[in-house]
Amino acid sequence: MTVYAIIGGTGLTQLDGLTINAALHLDTPYGAPSAPVLRGQYASGEEVLFLARHGHPHRIPPHQVNYRANLWALKESGAKAIIAVNAVGGIHSSMATGHFCLPHQLIDYTSGREHTFYEGELEHVTHVDFSHPYDTALRAKLAAALDQHRCSYSSHGVYGCTQGPRLETVAEIARMERDGCDIVGMTGMPEAALARELALPYACLALVVNPAAGKSNTLITMAEIERALEEGMGRVKSVLAHVLTS
Ligand code: HPA
Repeated sequence: MTVYAIIGGTGLTQLDGLTINAALHLDTPYGAPSAPVLRGQYASGEEVLFLARHGHPHRIPPHQVNYRANLWALKESGAKAIIAVNAVGGIHSSMATGHFCLPHQLIDYTSGREHTFYEGELEHVTHVDFSHPYDTALRAKLAAALDQHRCSYSSHGVYGCTQGPRLETVAEIARMERDGCDIVGMTGMPEAALARELALPYACLALVVNPAAGKSNTLITMAEIERALEEGMGRVKSVLAHVLTS
């Protein structure tokens, strides 16, 4: 049985319906992960791992998340595949607040993050293939669950990952749109690449929580983002429960 690990983003620090059996306080060669890895079981018996990307309570900003420790800890805990939940801004006109996206591609605009396990004194210099960052089978499972729960979603999209923690300028979003980005977030990288380095299939369930900069007539407020998160996270939890127990 595949043991899935969920990496919960902003607004998702716990999973409903999951009985937690253990909180694994792990140390890794890269330091401590954002939070203990929670190991739990759904009533139907499926074992699931859960990690709050920003800590629990939420306290670590996107550029300071120890992505290497997080991915290492999940692999150590027995994860065989990863579903990442990410709150994003909508760039493409189809990416309205409340819409879900299962990105199939990404562009990395981050800088200065610890982004690889392959550094230091190495026996072999390694370049992992990253042509297709997201796992097709896992995306299909998520799509089936989104269908089942009648959620509005796009089965494809390009995720642009910015450095944060500030939001983008209008010109940056216009550039990202010209580059082909449909959604923008701050936590997709290096998480996806590190999962690939550890050979863990990885998919992203992205929830649009605001129109990206310049995509509406108003400025982006935290209140707007929090409202969208509150409205969307119930559906995220139902979709995850569906994927994890089917
Ligand atoms: N930009 C970057 N990251 C985000 C946004 C945004 O507009 N909304 C939620 N995460």
